[in-house]
Amino acid sequence: MREYRLDLTAEAPADLRTLFKAEVSALQLEIGFGGGEHLLHRAKEAPGIGFIGVEPFVNGMAKMMTALGKTPLGNLRVYDDDATRLLDWLPSASLDGIDLLYPDPWPKKKHWKRRFVGAANLGRFARVLKPGGRFRFASDIDSYVNWTLLACRAHGAFAWEAGEAADWHQPYEGWPGTRYEAKAIREGRRPAYLTFIRK
Ligand SMILES: C[S@@+](CC[C@H](N)C(=O)[O-])C[C@H]1O[C@@H](n2cnc3c(N)ncnc32)[C@H](O)[C@@H]1O
Repeated sequence: MREYRLDLTAEAPADLRTLFKAEVSALQLEIGFGGGEHLLHRAKEAPGIGFIGVEPFVNGMAKMMTALGKTPLGNLRVYDDDATRLLDWLPSASLDGIDLLYPDPWPKKKHWKRRFVGAANLGRFARVLKPGGRFRFASDIDSYVNWTLLACRAHGAFAWEAGEAADWHQPYEGWPGTRYEAKAIREGRRPAYLTFIRK
């Protein structure tokens, strides 16, 4: 765990690539990686990209550590607390991409304010993403998809990348799926996959 966990009490290096044992060029963040299926898949297929994964849920992190014990990865670091703390620690314009895949949906209207997507966190994303950097958001909850489209439009720093409406339902390239997604599909919900570009 120690070699993978980021210590936020130390100042973030100006060049995040130095956080990794492997030589990496681009930097990606995945927030709330759950069982880690997607993050591990991406990190294994792209050894030249540095990945940071955040997951406060102890079982998810334990599963990730078990996987890394079997197959060590020099291009992966993790953080086991609230992603907002990590975002505030990162230098400005330091990331090439942020993936927020099936965030906690908070489907009841009275709980929508608890959703991870909101003006404050979009401000954090806008600060840490490089111009041209990519924010990907997947969800099976229609009200959260609409909520995110509206919030990104209102924020102003992001352009939604969509050719036609059908694109929403097309998984991202090389998509391995996630555990939460498999459950949503089993239960008859249709996921949407949004991509926004930091202007
Ligand atoms: C619905 S699950 C989806 C997990 C995984 N992405 C998947 O698709 O299977 C949402 C995850 O986000 C994590 N999460 C919730 N709030 C978070 C926060 N503030 N920072 C980081 N992760 C968070 C939860 O612990 C949970 O594992």
